[in-house]
Amino acid sequence: MRATASANSNIAIIKYWGQRDEKLVLPSNSSISFTMDGQLSTKTTVEFDRLLAKDGLVLDGAPAKDNETARVSAFLDLVRKKAGITARAKVVSSNTFPKSAGLASSASGFAALAAAASKAAGLDLGQKELSMLARRGSGSASRSIFGGCVEWRAGKKKDGTDCYAEQLSPPGKWRDLRNVIAISSMDEKKVGSAAGMKVSAKTSSLFAARLGAVEKRLALVRRAVRERDFEAMAPVIMQESDSMHAVMLDSWPPIVYLNETSFRIMRLVRELNESHGKYAAAYTFDAGPNAHVYTIARYAPEIRKALAELSGVMKIMECGIGEGVRFV
Ligand code: PMV
Repeated sequence: MRATASANSNIAIIKYWGQRDEKLVLPSNSSISFTMDGQLSTKTTVEFDRLLAKDGLVLDGAPAKDNETARVSAFLDLVRKKAGITARAKVVSSNTFPKSAGLASSASGFAALAAAASKAAGLDLGQKELSMLARRGSGSASRSIFGGCVEWRAGKKKDGTDCYAEQLSPPGKWRDLRNVIAISSMDEKKVGSAAGMKVSAKTSSLFAARLGAVEKRLALVRRAVRERDFEAMAPVIMQESDSMHAVMLDSWPPIVYLNETSFRIMRLVRELNESHGKYAAAYTFDAGPNAHVYTIARYAPEIRKALAELSGVMKIMECGIGEGVRFV
């Protein structure tokens, strides 16, 4: 009753922001991401043991906070129900990136947990089923089950049976694609994404308009990924990020994740593209101020250098495209 799995984080280029069902974690729109390489990875071991009185969670070598343990325990309840078992579990999880890097992602965490917990419980789930299970822990985790470029289909059915992730292209297909990450804050976010998107759906008048725009962008990005057309994909990536953060700002009370450095980076990327006379880079931001600058390997050194010289940038990482979840 013990299993270990490891999963990488993913960074969306078409964003998930809004749910059509909170309990089942069904999104309002489909989203598309690239799975990162092992630099942004979580490894998790789950062991069910009938002698345990309650679930326990050790995160990066220390006992987790109560709210973190409660979230994992609620997820394990879903696995126990599916497997028809009642035993509590010991969960030990560690990240390859420091938790304080402001990158702490629930995507790699719940993808690894879904795989390890289901296997330890005796379930033999395929990738599609794993993505549906991981989704219940954290929406974006559904995409981290697969490597390469991944689409999480929103689906239409009330029971969520048509809501799962699938691979659009394997990791090896776009070997020179890079995500240059510029960290400008190591703080934990004040508004969690699930709470934030609920406020946006309720209060932002731009929310519905955004959903209409996303449909067109999904079609554009699917084609660009198929043809490895960075020039076509780059403006859509930036419009998507800007659109999501506009909805956040239009929410009430406003949700502000970006900081001054984020805006400086947006300007820098625009100027860099102008100087090249084409799209060499595209920024995107999640529910936090740290920038993910997608680019092609040949431009990465120039982008790293420019970002390193920018005031407010604390640390730079460069990721390639990585694999999906695997058992260790
Ligand atoms: O990972 P979640 O379920 O908390 O949602 C995160 C949503 C964004 O990161 C803001 C966008 C995305 O699609 O990953």
